[in-house]
Formats: sequence, C-alpha cells, structure tokens
Amino acid sequence: MSDTREHFSSRLGFILAAAGSAVGIGNLVGFPVSATKNGGGAFLLVYALFVVFICLPVMMAEMAMGRQAQKDPLGSYKLLSGNDTKWSFAGFLAVLTPFMIAVFYMVITVWIFGYLSQVAVGNLDVLADPKSFGVFINSSSVFAYMAAVALIVNLILVGGVKQGIEKAAKFLMPALFVLLIALVAYVLTLDNAMAGVKYYIIPDFSKMNASVLNGALAQAFFSLSLGMGILMTYASYISKKDDIVGSAKMVALTDSLVAFIAGLMVLPAIFSFNPDTDPTKLSDSSVSMIFEFLPKILLALQTDIGYVGASIVAFVFFLLVFFAAITSLVSIVEVPTATLSDRKGISRKMALLILTGSIGVLTVLCTMSFGMVEGLTSFTNYGGASKSLFDIVYDVFYDTILPLNGLMVCLFVMYRWKKVRLSEELSQGCPGYAGSFTEKYVNFSLSTFIPVILVVIFINTVATKFF
Ligand code: PHE
Repeated sequence: MSDTREHFSSRLGFILAAAGSAVGIGNLVGFPVSATKNGGGAFLLVYALFVVFICLPVMMAEMAMGRQAQKDPLGSYKLLSGNDTKWSFAGFLAVLTPFMIAVFYMVITVWIFGYLSQVAVGNLDVLADPKSFGVFINSSSVFAYMAAVALIVNLILVGGVKQGIEKAAKFLMPALFVLLIALVAYVLTLDNAMAGVKYYIIPDFSKMNASVLNGALAQAFFSLSLGMGILMTYASYISKKDDIVGSAKMVALTDSLVAFIAGLMVLPAIFSFNPDTDPTKLSDSSVSMIFEFLPKILLALQTDIGYVGASIVAFVFFLLVFFAAITSLVSIVEVPTATLSDRKGISRKMALLILTGSIGVLTVLCTMSFGMVEGLTSFTNYGGASKSLFDIVYDVFYDTILPLNGLMVCLFVMYRWKKVRLSEELSQGCPGYAGSFTEKYVNFSLSTFIPVILVVIFINTVATKFF
C-alpha cells in the first residue's frame, strides 16, 4: 500500500501545503485584532511562546503519526494501535471534525468569494452599508458562489497530491505573500498608520489574565491546523527521508509570520480611518471585521484614491483572504477524502463526489440558518442563547472537539504508541534529533503538562459554552 501512495514531490511542497492549511482567515484579521485588544506586544510574546512550547510538539506528534502509518487519520490510529477499537474512536473524531469544520469554513469562504467577485466586476456597492452583508448572505446568489467554490476545491483536489494540492500551494502561497506585502506597503503610507502599529506592538502586560491566555492558546492551536487530522494526512504523503522536525518549525514560523505581518496591514488601516478608535471595542470576530468593519474603510478610500483605486485595494484584499481560505479549505476536505478512498478503496474522484455532495447539503443548510429558514435560525438553545445550525457546528466542533482531538494525539503518542517510536520516527530525516534537548522537551511536554492544559481548555469550553 505505502509504495503506491502518492507523495509530495519535495519537502518544500509539503511545507507550502501545510503552511497553506495553517494560514487562513483567522491569521489575516482575527489574530491582529485579538492581539491589539489583549495587550499588543504582550499578546504577541505569549502567543509566540505558546506556538513554540505547546503547539510545536503536538504538531510534530501529528506529523509523525501520519508519516509512520502512511494512512489517513482513521487508518493511522487503527494501524498504530494494533486495531484497538478504543483508539479507532479517536481516529473517527479526527475525521468527523474536519468534515464538520469544512462545512463551517465553506460557508465563510463562499461569502469571501462572493465579495471578491462583486468587487472584481466593479460593484463596490456590495460594501456599501452595514446592512448589505445581512442582505448578501440571505440572497440566492450565495448558492451560485457556493457552486463555484465547490468546483474550485474539487478541481484542486481531483489532481491528487502532486498535481493538485502541491501545485495549488506552490502558486497560492507565494501569491498570498506578495498581496499581503503590497497591502502592508500601501497601508503604511496612510495618515496615522503608526498609531495602529503602536497599539499592535507596544506591550501592555496588565491585560494578561486567564481568559486572554486561554484565547491565545486556542488561537494558536486553531491557526496551526492542529487537532483536525490535516497534518496527519499531509504527513502521510511525505517520505521517510524528510525532516519532520524542521518542516514543522517552518510551518509554524510561516503561519506566525503571516499572522504578525497581517497586523501591519489591519491596524494601520483601522487607525488611519479613525484615529480615535478604541481598540478594546473592536470585534473579535473575523467575520464581522471582514464583512462589516473593514468594508467601511475600503469604501472611505474613495475620497483619497477614487473609485477605481478603492476597487483595486478592495480586490487585492479579498483576493488575499480568498487565497488564504481556499488553501485551508482544500486541506480540510482532503482529510475525509483520503479516509474515504483509503478505507473503502474507492477512487479519489468518487470520494470527492460523495463528500462534495454531503458537505454541500450541510453547507446549504447552514447557509439557510441566517434567516432564510426560520427553523434553522434558532435551532436549539444552550448556554443561555438561541443557536442557529451554523452556531452549533462552530461551538461543537471548532471550539470544543478541537482541543479534545489534540489531547487524543498527546495521549496516544505517549501512552499507546510510546515515546521510543515517536523519537524513532522524528529522527528519520533529522538524525540530530535523537538525544537532543528538543527530543527531551517534546517527550516531557507531551506526556505531562500539554495534555493537562488541553483538558483544562476542554472543560472550560464545555462549561462556558453549554451550561
Ligand atoms: N489555520 C486555519 C485558519 O486560520 C484553520 C483552518 C485550517 C480552518 C483548515 C479550516 C481548515 O483559518
């Protein structure tokens, strides 16, 4: 089986694909805004420490499992546990989670694509007033954009690992970087840009408290695509000669760097628009920033650079966000695709057809849960609020099961698969790993405090979200 499995053509291809997964909507807007609200440089520092000391070991463990097993997450748990049904459940969750998050992420990617298309044809009015977002997401044109996004994801994934995922990442990731730098360079020339940079960078340690720390870790965990089976799946497409330790560091660095640089785009824009902005009042939600707050700024640019100028800046911005979203969406749909074709022995094409169909149906239902269909809008209530279908998918899978999946990886690797095997796997392609400080740290942290932290986050989320 393993010799017929398709592989990335190079280590760079793998790094770009994994970084493409990691760099997503959250990096571009969510990260800079929560950093600014929660202590600026102090948040940046804490975030960086979390990435290095908590997320990197989990990332290496996920990659090691996938590379060793050369299988999808369900197959990896099964194979590495010697067919232990207890662990198959962890494998099952590692596939169900990306399937459901794909639905959630698809909904937002469709909106981004819709805005991008509108701006591309010169219709800046789509950004016009705050209500237009509500109108847009409840209009039937959303379904046409949905079909287009589904088609794009399929066209990439049907090409397989080398010709699909890797090729797309090799084009989209450098392009994303160029677009981002271009926007940063432009935004920094605006009046008051430096006020935004100051808020973003100057540390304010008084803002640090347990909930900020929890938020920073959750953000880092999610941003690095941990707990979604993605890195396990992508690592099953690399060869034994590749250096996982080095690759994981590169992916984490790229992801964090893009998030950091995005702050140099978002904050100066906000402060040049309104120098008196109170950063603590900014919305934490990427969705409301992208579709409600930032459009006001893009529109206001017209007075400076005219309609065409503002349209170009808006186009570049939405293209940037779309590129970030599509590489993440591709990675998350790849997990159930790989599982279905590996487990059931069906072709990729067939697996994609089945998944596009089922993810599509759920995406349509979620899309209709913003007002089109009454019964889906307030589907149920918990935690003191009425919840739409979309909210449920978000709360359950994104917020709650993600840390649980991370916990499973730690416990599995340390207590079932065992440290020696993890070390052996990570040393392949990285001979210096054996006996290094990194090895000692990874083994210690994964078997002790990282699982404890993940349990605490899990319990805390359940308690605050559902009760
Ligand atoms: N890192 C991605 C982001 O920040 C998270 C993600 C990855 C979401 C893959 C969905 C799919 O948006």
